[in-house]
Amino acid sequence: MNYKLMDLYVYGDRRGSLVSLEEQRDVPFDIKRVYYIYGTKPGVERGKHAHIHLKQIVVCVSGSCTFILDDGKNQKEIELNRPDVGLYIGENIWREIKNFSRDCVVMVLASEYYDENEYIRNYEKFKKEVKCLAI
Ligand code: TYD
Repeated sequence: MNYKLMDLYVYGDRRGSLVSLEEQRDVPFDIKRVYYIYGTKPGVERGKHAHIHLKQIVVCVSGSCTFILDDGKNQKEIELNRPDVGLYIGENIWREIKNFSRDCVVMVLASEYYDENEYIRNYEKFKKEVKCLAI
């Protein structure tokens, strides 16, 4: 599946920790956009979409949450609970996010500007798209 868990380099000293992410060095694409999700209400599930071209790196910088990734054939559940781990998600992966802790902050680095036309928000349509790509 087109995802990868990445250990991020931590500049740690007696003061604490610092993580730096540079495009084309720590991140395998140009960063066009950064967004973050916080204050998620209990029981909420987010995501439920795929992207045609977009690549992302997700870092749960505070708290924890669960990502469910799906390539149309297999599903993978990933618990994110460390600010020094990045989850790379490539193209054409359906993702859902759940189990947000109250203090969860999810930061996302994205390879493209926001474009609603680039989203697939219907799971059946997603399944059809990935089937066509496989042919
Ligand atoms: P949405 O896609 O529903 O978020 P999630 O992936 O967590 O389900 O986005 C919520 C709103 O924010 C929606 O109106 C679109 C807007 N938005 C932007 O304007 N820019 C962005 O980069 C993102 C990710 C969302």
